[in-house]
Amino acid sequence: EKGGYDHYMLKEIQEQPTSLRQTLEGRIREESVSLESFPPGSFTDVSTVQFVACGTSYHAGLYGSHLLSEGGVPATTHLASEYAVYPPPIDEDTLVIAVTQSGETADTLEALRVAKEHGARTLAITNVVGSTAARESDDALLIRAGPEIGVAATKTFSSQVATLLLVANRLIEDVTGELLDGHLDRLESLRSLPSFVQTGLDTSQAPAVADQYLSDGHFFIGRGNGVPVALEAALKFKEITYEHAEGFPAGELKHGPLALVTADTPVFVVCTGRDASKLESAIREVQTRGAPVIAVAPRSMSDIIDTADETLTVPATHPDLVPILANVQLQLVAYHAAAKLDRAIDKPRNLAKSVTVE
Ligand code: M6R
Repeated sequence: EKGGYDHYMLKEIQEQPTSLRQTLEGRIREESVSLESFPPGSFTDVSTVQFVACGTSYHAGLYGSHLLSEGGVPATTHLASEYAVYPPPIDEDTLVIAVTQSGETADTLEALRVAKEHGARTLAITNVVGSTAARESDDALLIRAGPEIGVAATKTFSSQVATLLLVANRLIEDVTGELLDGHLDRLESLRSLPSFVQTGLDTSQAPAVADQYLSDGHFFIGRGNGVPVALEAALKFKEITYEHAEGFPAGELKHGPLALVTADTPVFVVCTGRDASKLESAIREVQTRGAPVIAVAPRSMSDIIDTADETLTVPATHPDLVPILANVQLQLVAYHAAAKLDRAIDKPRNLAKSVTVE
């Protein structure tokens, strides 16, 4: 059942080239994105996008709003539990996108209902055909990752992000009337994403890194589109290892968390190809306190790699796609650290795959 793997989580991590191929299948044409239910013009009435989600899906949403904002579409991401009780201003021109693997997360469903009551248009991005989120939203877009058994979300995060890249293309074009700079480059790279993920899996140094840097406290930092990955990596790490892990934007280090940094605080730095100089200063800040730095970066970022104590390299590709590749490395780090500690990886204590209570 586990296809020869010790855990579903590892099987699902290794499956990502295949699940991503399924996500992308038939959705990229020569020079444009082609989404079944969203032909060009589907979103011309939209003025603002609000993502609502929880946990890992919230991190995918953060990636989505970053992408849209960069493309000129006003977008924000909200924790569904907060949104449901303290919603921001919402009107008929607001598109509310619920990102939810299961489509059954109570907090996310509640946020969707609140959005509807305020007259928003709703879209569910989900892995489950016929799920409550899919049924209750005006539209649904499937991530097509296939069933995920491990409680820790892995392949579904990658497929959520890939789906967001596709839908963002349509949204940016419809809302701004213009294509994003470098649009063709990005589409071309997206087409090759499954093989880049395969290369990242085949050449990963994550098992050795997990072994060497297991500690009582771990930091994960990044900037821009590396922030969702830093947050996601910390969530994954704490969820399955039960060891302390924190993720945050690198610029926040000096506003508090730096006080926790010692020689026993490995700091994982997610570098997606932008913001190199800002990340270098964060690296110096923690190295001065004796902390080991593990960069997760494309080989081309030689300044970062030279400064770091250790590197998990990822294949070089479009900076918008590097977050997926970096995240795969950090999924493996979390997995191997948890395996070393002999944790219940597929069913971590106190957690459920689908959280159907508010
Ligand atoms: O099914 P959903 O995507 O709505 O689930 C949301 C969260 O409960 C989920 O992403 C959770 O954080 C992950 N299992 C963590 O790995």
